[in-house]
Amino acid sequence: MRIQKAKRIEQIPPYLFAQIDKKKREMRQRGMDLIDLGIGDPDLPTPPFIIEKLKKASEDPRNHRYPSYEGMIEFRTAVARWYERRFGIRLDPAREVLSLIGSKEGIAHIPLAFVDPGDAVLVPSPGYPVYRVSTLFAGGIPFFLPLREENKFLPDLSEIPEDVAHKAKLLFINYPNNPTSAIAERAFYDQVVAFARKYEIIVCHDAAYSEIAFDGYRPLSLMEIEGGKEVGIEFHSLSKTFNMTGWRIGFAVGNPEIVSGLGGVKTNIDSGVFQAIQEAGTAALDHFDTPLPGIIEIYERRREILVKGLREVGLELERPKATFYLWIHVPRGYTSAQFAALLLEKAGIVATPGNGFGDTGEGYIRMAMTVGEERLKEAIHRLKGMVF
Ligand SMILES: Cc1ncc(COP(=O)(O)O)c(C=O)c1O
Repeated sequence: MRIQKAKRIEQIPPYLFAQIDKKKREMRQRGMDLIDLGIGDPDLPTPPFIIEKLKKASEDPRNHRYPSYEGMIEFRTAVARWYERRFGIRLDPAREVLSLIGSKEGIAHIPLAFVDPGDAVLVPSPGYPVYRVSTLFAGGIPFFLPLREENKFLPDLSEIPEDVAHKAKLLFINYPNNPTSAIAERAFYDQVVAFARKYEIIVCHDAAYSEIAFDGYRPLSLMEIEGGKEVGIEFHSLSKTFNMTGWRIGFAVGNPEIVSGLGGVKTNIDSGVFQAIQEAGTAALDHFDTPLPGIIEIYERRREILVKGLREVGLELERPKATFYLWIHVPRGYTSAQFAALLLEKAGIVATPGNGFGDTGEGYIRMAMTVGEERLKEAIHRLKGMVF
């Protein structure tokens, strides 16, 4: 029998990290000691306090049943408490908070709630690949907003043609930003809210890295911006904040109509987050002041090793104010893919080619500071032996 995939799958290139994984496996089979700076998956463990909560909660038979679709009210109330402590914003846990099986799940499903075939969705390039793919799955047409260095990696909303703006249903933004590590200030969010109001576009703010910021900088929430909650939904994740990527728990907050639209999709697709994980997440949000104690200092030390070392070998990059990514210019004469391949083959260093995040990412590679200091020093040592 011939198995024919749906067009929606065939139009999608292989998931960026799946291609890199394949190449990594090949290199490992050849005996290469790889330093993997490819994927933004923290190497730091989940705090023991959270693990203990999961252990206890997993023994309670009430948690062995189907969870509620929108998330336990206890979890959503803890989200509201955290939001108020962190951003000074009050949320109604019953209507303005939804639990997610990781923020990726919410981002992947939101176009199904609001995008009809042929509608436009405004998607940053470079950007987290899920914005584009989820748009395509819903039959929408991604319109790419280039994030350029000269504009501090913020989209220039005035470049969006009128007809596209009128057809657009969603605008994805993400600050602190993956992959560029750029941050956004209040003036930018004000512009976004004005634009969204003018064209009646839902703003989907991906705030997965809101708690990973350096030098005392505290990223803003869209909900803090006047009009932000009217036009938007914000995605948060416990993944990077509490080193819980594998646990699959996140949440969305915002305009109750937008939140319930997403909830309506989820009701028909998934059955929520394992309640024991929600209980552990509740404890994490209530127990810790974010950022998690000590975590920022670890990333700051790693950042200093890499930024200094990479500059010494002649690579150009900014010192990031947030996220655990470095967005690095490739040397003259290379494409992103060629330079990433060179690093992998000659130095055993895994970096992600920037064009994998969208065409405007060409000319860059991304490194994630998700390995320890000794390995980062080793990476710099290996690079010092190379000529670009
Ligand atoms: C920008 C961005 N958004 C969302 C996610 C998804 O995170 P999670 O599904 O673990 O919450 C990631 C993961 O790397 C990310 O980089």
